[in-house]
Amino acid sequence: MLSFCPYRWRGREDDFMSWKTHAARLADRVTHQGSRWCAAIADTPRHFVPSWWTWSDDRWELSNRPGDERWLETIYQDRTLVTRVGALHADQAAPGDHPEGWPTSSSTLPGLLLQMYRHARIGDGHTILDVGTGSGYGTALLCNRVGDDRVTSVDVDPYLTAAAGDRLAKTGLKPRLATVDATGPLPDGFDRIVATVSVRPIPASWLEALRVGGRFATTIIDTSLILTGRKTQEGGAVGQIERDWAMFMRTRDGEDYPPGLADLMETARTADGDTVDRARFPILDLLQTWDVRSMLEITVPGIEHHYSEEPGSRTALMVHEDGSWARAVSTHGPPMVHQGGPRRLWDLLDEVRLLAPARSTSPVRCRCTRDPRGGDSSPAWSVEGHNHLRAACGVHYRTAGPVTARPSWVLCASPCRSIRCLIA
Ligand SMILES: C[S@@+](CC[C@H](N)C(=O)[O-])C[C@H]1O[C@@H](n2cnc3c(N)ncnc32)[C@H](O)[C@@H]1O
Repeated sequence: MLSFCPYRWRGREDDFMSWKTHAARLADRVTHQGSRWCAAIADTPRHFVPSWWTWSDDRWELSNRPGDERWLETIYQDRTLVTRVGALHADQAAPGDHPEGWPTSSSTLPGLLLQMYRHARIGDGHTILDVGTGSGYGTALLCNRVGDDRVTSVDVDPYLTAAAGDRLAKTGLKPRLATVDATGPLPDGFDRIVATVSVRPIPASWLEALRVGGRFATTIIDTSLILTGRKTQEGGAVGQIERDWAMFMRTRDGEDYPPGLADLMETARTADGDTVDRARFPILDLLQTWDVRSMLEITVPGIEHHYSEEPGSRTALMVHEDGSWARAVSTHGPPMVHQGGPRRLWDLLDEVRLLAPARSTSPVRCRCTRDPRGGDSSPAWSVEGHNHLRAACGVHYRTAGPVTARPSWVLCASPCRSIRCLIA
């Protein structure tokens, strides 16, 4: 039986019954009656996302059947709808198109949006910067929660902000929308910044855009780490890695992501290694093993992974833009590992896997403050809390000392789930 929360309806009466029932079911699934998000979910149409891409038979297929009841059912499930692949948005695709590449925009699954909003601690009266407009569905939720006059949403893609603006206006919502790269200058004066796109480092502009006491919630590129922070009186921030997981696509600065390392991946697939050894651990599909992948990514940022299974064998490939590569193949018994290039990527992964069980998974706190030595025109910054961080990171913590450079958050490598935040 449906037990959804009360909600306000602002759309047209003719399509009221059908989508409202689906939205109410979704609200029941991803919230509860006591949640202040319940009414927002039940009140927000998601079927203004008309088309999306589905991965089927090893290629992207267009899903575009507005009006169909099963189409509506799919939209109101708690699942991500990939709306843009490479440079092709599903709205602009023709039947028979099969774009190649990575997803570059989506309508995030509603449960995950709420997870991020909860980490951002969004409350009544807050002004919000929503980073990554995408379909505009998350923006609509925020508007329905705090009021559209308090929401600004930004995306790097002009089509997305324009389409979201039109669709939101049709449901009676008029938040401020802007096409900007959120890693650069931003409007300011926000109580909250919440990102549904991952970043590394945390852009300096986010500290400028927040009010003192304001909070941000984001994820770190290619990790499942959620980082939150609060802006301090001095203009720095105090933050932590949350005891929770989420993953989002990475920020881009153009129409599409730069091409991957296909040639090096081919080398990894076929070449004999400079070193060839038996592996210590079984092969993992790192794309599905979020904790290990996050630790590795923090230690050695930028590794591309490929994993495949065939009856009786498993293969994992790793490549890095510095020319390093690794291939691990297991048929029967321990995997055989070939490695080439300047770094031994598989050995670095082994180190992470060896040390992982000994690590504290406690949230790590860090504080970044303005250093008066920097003066006003070119503020310098320093990091406090080293002892705490040393305790959390164990033997692999490396002391950096005060950092004096431009104000931007940088996540510094430590081969564990712990992270120290530096201003660089
Ligand atoms: C996962 S989608 C956001 C989904 C959205 N919250 C929704 O509910 O539909 C991530 C979005 O981040 C945007 N994006 C990527 N790089 C960006 C950047 N540098 N600045 C701002 N937005 C960016 C993408 O265009 C994409 O639309």
